Amino acid sequence: MASDPIPTGTTTWSDRFDQGLHPAIERFNASIGFDLELLEQDLDGSVAHARMLGRCGVISEAEALELIRGLQQVRAEAAAGQFNPGLEAEDVHFAVEHRLIALLGPLGKKLHTGRSRNDQVGTDVRLWLRSQIDLIDGALVRFERALLAQAEAHASTLIPGYTHLQRAQPVCLAHHLLAYIEMAERDRSRLADVRQRVNISPLGAAALAGTPVPIDRRQTAEELGFDEVYANSLDAVSDRDFAVEFMAAASLVMVHLSRLSEEVVLWASEEFGFISLTDRCATGSSLMPQKKNPDVPELVRGKSGRVFGHLMGLLTMIKGLPLAYNKDFQEDKEALFDGVRTCRDCLEAMAILFEEGLEFRPQRLEAAVASDFSNATDVADYLVAKGIPFREAYQLVGGLVKTCLAEQVLLKDLPLERWQQLHPGFEADIYAAIAPRQVVAARRSEGGTAFDQVERQLQRIRTRLATGAQKG
Ligand code: ARG
Repeated sequence: MASDPIPTGTTTWSDRFDQGLHPAIERFNASIGFDLELLEQDLDGSVAHARMLGRCGVISEAEALELIRGLQQVRAEAAAGQFNPGLEAEDVHFAVEHRLIALLGPLGKKLHTGRSRNDQVGTDVRLWLRSQIDLIDGALVRFERALLAQAEAHASTLIPGYTHLQRAQPVCLAHHLLAYIEMAERDRSRLADVRQRVNISPLGAAALAGTPVPIDRRQTAEELGFDEVYANSLDAVSDRDFAVEFMAAASLVMVHLSRLSEEVVLWASEEFGFISLTDRCATGSSLMPQKKNPDVPELVRGKSGRVFGHLMGLLTMIKGLPLAYNKDFQEDKEALFDGVRTCRDCLEAMAILFEEGLEFRPQRLEAAVASDFSNATDVADYLVAKGIPFREAYQLVGGLVKTCLAEQVLLKDLPLERWQQLHPGFEADIYAAIAPRQVVAARRSEGGTAFDQVERQLQRIRTRLATGAQKG
């Protein structure tokens, strides 16, 4: 059955009102255009509330069962695409209540006993966000697995490491990718932390002050899977800290994705040439036939701004509000919905990009690390091992690099006499010491880029992802 339209001008309000809303204000006021997203949670919350009213003797057990049956019917109608409330319903909460009354008659009017839309909407948003946090966690795991698979495949591939976007020292490619997995693990632990504060029940705070109706807040909290109930009813209906915290955590997810995106865009350029894009995630130009564009990382980089914007929007929306509920809070929804969707979509797109959208080009990478001065520190370290103070060694090698640049010759191509002219400590083993693979293998300090250190990191992440356990 289609939902019964509520004639415009008929108010849900009490007889205190004589006139209906101005049509433009009705539109302006309504959240039904977006808050149907909360329908499932609204029904879950109402089912729990109805059951509790029955158990507490506020309504009879039979009435409670009938209300629950009616609510399940609304759920079924929605699943069949037959629940399409219009503007006149104002919001998802009224839409459900109206439909219930149409289905059950006067009994439907008992559902809202001991409850307000203020604690109701707070409950719905928290239930919704809690399930979305779990989905985002799953998306983070998929993204990490995609990075891990590439890292496993490139446990012995080298890539130039940069500081200031200047070639610095070569690193193991797996090491580079694992750095992003570490970020994603922090994102997971941050979201798990936020989830604890999302998962507290405001239901039963009623409008702001609690209710004289003998309800049991613990019962609804337990049925809805909340860990706790808010201790203060004013705080319960006016707290949106959890939305801000979530958006801050989501913003960092986006920062991490955006930084990785920037690298992919650079790597895909002809200048770097470290990866090639497969046809799965790249697009062509409508004009230039030779082009293959990295749209996925560009879009992810671009979309990060939306999430940061929502964070600022939420903070600003909340900062001047007196206690308790204010209609301003209606503005939290589109921010949360869009922030969550953006974050999930971007994680999925980046996972797919690393699963099948790009291929590293080991030969280009090897050539890159062999053709620069990123082994200069290792020359200094070689002298340090022979007892020369680091600063002195550093000066000597600086001068050597300057001469080499002028002569257009790489360190590895200098004859031994030149080394020995610079310092008698140099011997023939200098060539092995500055070969890129040796340079990487030598950095064995804990968490360094040496192959055995990287293998330890890989092992840790493998276990963590296999067990679903989080970084403590
Ligand atoms: N649509 C409203 C919101 O999203 C529901 C709560 C309305 N409460 C009220 N007292 N007007 O915040």
